[in-house]
Amino acid sequence: MRATPPPKTYRVKSFGCQMNVYDGERMAELLADRGIAPAAEGEDADLVVLNTCHIREKAAEKVYSDIGRLRKADGSKPLIAVAGCVAQAEGEEIMARAPAVSMVVGPQAYHRLPEMLDKAVAGERATDTDMPPIAKFDALPARRRAPPSAFLTVQEGCDKFCTYCVVPYTRGAEISRPFADLIAEAERLVAGGAREITLLGQNVNAWTGEDDKGRAIGLDGLIRELARLPDLARIRYTTSHPMDVTDGLIAAHGEIDKLMPFLHLPVQSGSDPILKAMNRSHDADGYLRLLERFRAARPDIALSGDFIVGFPGESEADFEATLQLVDAVGYAQAFSFKYSPRPGTPAATMADQVAPEIMDERLQRLQAALNRDQIAFNQASLGKTCPVLVERKGKKPGQLLGKSPWLQSVWFDSDVSIGEIVEVELAEAGPNSMAGRVRASATT
Ligand code: 5AD
Ligand code: SF4
Repeated sequence: MRATPPPKTYRVKSFGCQMNVYDGERMAELLADRGIAPAAEGEDADLVVLNTCHIREKAAEKVYSDIGRLRKADGSKPLIAVAGCVAQAEGEEIMARAPAVSMVVGPQAYHRLPEMLDKAVAGERATDTDMPPIAKFDALPARRRAPPSAFLTVQEGCDKFCTYCVVPYTRGAEISRPFADLIAEAERLVAGGAREITLLGQNVNAWTGEDDKGRAIGLDGLIRELARLPDLARIRYTTSHPMDVTDGLIAAHGEIDKLMPFLHLPVQSGSDPILKAMNRSHDADGYLRLLERFRAARPDIALSGDFIVGFPGESEADFEATLQLVDAVGYAQAFSFKYSPRPGTPAATMADQVAPEIMDERLQRLQAALNRDQIAFNQASLGKTCPVLVERKGKKPGQLLGKSPWLQSVWFDSDVSIGEIVEVELAEAGPNSMAGRVRASATT
């Protein structure tokens, strides 16, 4: 590679989960700290960071087509860094396959991006896929401004080894960030304007730590402490694993007003043999009983989940068990995917891989059921008046967009400021959003 002038502008493109969004924001801050400016919408960037996702094959392949397409208006290539889980899993392959890439940085090493950039400017290619836990959080600059709804990564990695999943390999073992660091970061987010914090982790409810009195606490204890921050109005968390649900977490939903009535608890399948083959450590009935307990603690809780169709060996009867579970739960929203074999995972070499056309057909049926329930949930909300946190301006003048407590997107006309919480009557229900009418300016 040839030496290049130091970049003046950057763009970070994040794919995949919310943890990547958080990591992408932190990388942007690192670059901004170096005096590199974010490229304006529609303008060339001298440095592009592709913050990638490896969870499904499509997401991973997209990286290579993106690299091929990246070009400035004058035809030259920008400096390209590949970050995230594809970088972790396929670092060497990327370097071999994509000569335009000068930096490959794994999700645990991105605090070293500035040093790698120095090398890249000098014409050297650099890869860093070390996995030192916590170090990256300590090394990152303090945050000055925060959006009304901000993310805070509290836990990373996964020890569950579901047989289809690459996360334990790309993000490493489960680690929890220390309590004091999280309280300090939350305080900074709130000082920077955040009204809502979503606690993030691949297994967020596996978070454990010690509070300032040295007592061992779990995620519910952390939520309780965060709820004491006066200017923080809302707390959410995602993604949870059924195995790590505690009595305390369920109780917290009934006791802490600031904890929003929403739970994302992936189940993946409604069939016990498939759950077993997935190494999920729960069966369908155990999952349903957990949800009942959340509903008993917080009757209006909105439920969300993740599903995989076409896992190896999934029969029509197995799939129908998934549809039955969906009917039994009545999800407010959910994510569903076709099984995608990931290299190095046990399921990739299992017998009885399901044919693509069967997967397509099952995904369509599942999504029809989930959409039906999402619309039903939104329709059941009609006429309710609820607090909405204003997150941004809408497309039309005077229009604002915010979130209901149940994570519905709500559009309405108003001149209140972004970051305010207003009482809005939910007046029209669409499949993916609600239209509302402002009742009054509330808690702010
Ligand atoms: N194929 C399809 N979906 C997957 N997920 C994880 N691994 C795979 C895979 N190999 C889905 C799961 C998980 C979500 C983040 O992505 O549903 O909960
Ligand atoms: Fe992947 Fe399972 Fe861990 Fe979730 S719990 S990250 S699906 S291994």
